[in-house]
Amino acid sequence: MQPVGDSRVEYPAPTLSDGIVRLRSWGLSDLECIEEASRDPVIPGGTSVPVPYSDAEGRAFIERCRAHLTNGTGLAQAITDATCDRAVGQLVLLFRHPPAGRHVAGVGYWVIESARRRGFATRAVRLLVNWALQHTSIRRLEALAEPENVPSRRVLEAAGFQEEGVLRSYLGVDSDAVMYSVIPPIPADGNPL
Ligand SMILES: CC(C)(COP(=O)(O)OP(=O)(O)OC[C@H]1O[C@@H](n2cnc3c(N)ncnc32)[C@H](O)[C@@H]1OP(=O)(O)O)[C@@H](O)C(=O)NCCC(=O)NCCS
Repeated sequence: MQPVGDSRVEYPAPTLSDGIVRLRSWGLSDLECIEEASRDPVIPGGTSVPVPYSDAEGRAFIERCRAHLTNGTGLAQAITDATCDRAVGQLVLLFRHPPAGRHVAGVGYWVIESARRRGFATRAVRLLVNWALQHTSIRRLEALAEPENVPSRRVLEAAGFQEEGVLRSYLGVDSDAVMYSVIPPIPADGNPL
């Protein structure tokens, strides 16, 4: 079990991998991934990925990711291609604020355009869900997706999340969000479905 006394989490050790995807902390060798993410039409809007990109801003992004761990707010990990260690995206786990309590955490993710549709996001979220529900004090993981964001919704559904309902005008005026969650138990095959 990871230390759960104060509901903090540590980077999973050993790192989470299924042989195709590996989750690990961000490093300075990952600036190319951050640079590509900064040029995406969607990713910077919902994240702190810098626009415009510079190496200094890329390094600051990495520091912000690492700060989640030191501040106890959660974890931000790079999604990497396990065959070559190339960073292709990000997966964050952030504790919700009270009164939900620290047994509730939200997940968020992105994958750079050049690495999409290869299953990286689905595999990464599956790994994180199984680890978080088995090895931390987290008992509910939740995620919000825009109703029209089909890839994101498919990622969540493939990782065992269930749709709970639509939060109207939640992401902005007239911009709805679909709430998904996953809770234990996790069946013996390791997939929370
Ligand atoms: C959502 C996102 C992370 C998916 O990453 P990915 O690595 O390409 O996802 P996967 O390869 O695991 O594919 C997930 C599913 O979406 C489907 N999919 C991917 N891109 C699609 C597209 N453009 N149109 C329709 N379906 C798509 C895949 O076929 C797959 O479904 P399947 O398992 O039924 O075949 C990526 O598109 C992204 O970063 N988008 C911008 C940021 C974003 O929307 N983040 C989520 C915020 S809630």
